[in-house]
Amino acid sequence: MKILAIESSCDETAAAVIEDGRTILSNIVDSQVETHALYGGVVPEIASRRHMEAVVRVTDAALREAGLTRDGVDAVAATCAPGLIGALLVGANFGKSLAFALGKPFIPVHHIRGHIAANYLQFPDLKPPFLTLVASGGHSLLVLVKDYTEFEILGGTRDDAAGEAFDKVARVLGVGYPGGPKIDRMAVGGDPKKYKLPVSHVKDAPLDFSFSGLKTAVINLAHNAGQKGEEIDKASLAACFCRAVVDTLVPRLALAMDETSARDVVCAGGVAANSWLRAALTELAETRGVRLYLPPLSLCGDNAAMIGAQAYYEYRAGNLGTTAQNAFATAQISESVCRKIR
Ligand code: KG4
Ligand code: ZN
Repeated sequence: MKILAIESSCDETAAAVIEDGRTILSNIVDSQVETHALYGGVVPEIASRRHMEAVVRVTDAALREAGLTRDGVDAVAATCAPGLIGALLVGANFGKSLAFALGKPFIPVHHIRGHIAANYLQFPDLKPPFLTLVASGGHSLLVLVKDYTEFEILGGTRDDAAGEAFDKVARVLGVGYPGGPKIDRMAVGGDPKKYKLPVSHVKDAPLDFSFSGLKTAVINLAHNAGQKGEEIDKASLAACFCRAVVDTLVPRLALAMDETSARDVVCAGGVAANSWLRAALTELAETRGVRLYLPPLSLCGDNAAMIGAQAYYEYRAGNLGTTAQNAFATAQISESVCRKIR
């Protein structure tokens, strides 16, 4: 089954054709990142307009690369939640209209389910159940994937997501948007013990995260140094920050491994590209003797291939959208996004 998938939840307009949830026939990503970098972060209204300009071109490119006409696809999928609502509405309405015009099923997909499904494209033998650490720009979650469309949230962030913290710290250190990859590169050669940064714990919720204290500590450190006219060792501060994020995420994943006795552990989301996190997860998996699945860097960030992968399993579960399908700025990973306008 060939699914044409569309993703537009944030600042990438993406389209892909995926076969049977596992094989990439095409994967086109049109990034708006340079436009938003001018403003230091994503400007939602600009994102929506850019999606409108790009969505037809990107979709046609994905079909062309897959060697298909519009009639050659078996279904159309689109990210319907969560994300920037104006941005989501472009891809969701375009995908829905295309599906109904072609007389094909429409499959609404949850963006974070898609991030997890990126791993199905890379690892043909990966099957639920497995434990997942999701670390993206908007979400940090520990999720038990019980089945392809059945998710149990074990823990989550109480404030900022890991990626959000990376982006804010990058701003303070003057390297701009998007922060994650820049901080990762900046940390090379830095001393990860030079600055003392806090690792927060949430009282009575050992699997929950909090990044706001860490973010504030970096902001204060930079401002205090600025006021005193002291030079910051940016490489070391970036390294200390990466280490603190890893020290927040990885022990909670280890605890979740203990609680679930998981043997298969998956990482997903933009922050899964972080070299410190990948190294720490690899070490944890080796120590525990569990199998670790890390998506390739090309599938960590937003793309439509991951949406097409998850869409296949949503289709098999009967989770189809009607003409009344809406998009939603927020939705838990455990909720269905096949919801009608009330
Ligand atoms: O999953 P994603 O592409 O979008 C959301 O669904 O939110 O994640 C984007 C986030 C951004 O905050 C970006 O700074 C972060 O992932 N990111 C990284 C790295 N590459 C991207 N964070 C840390 N290290 C990286 N190498
Ligand atoms: Zn994402």
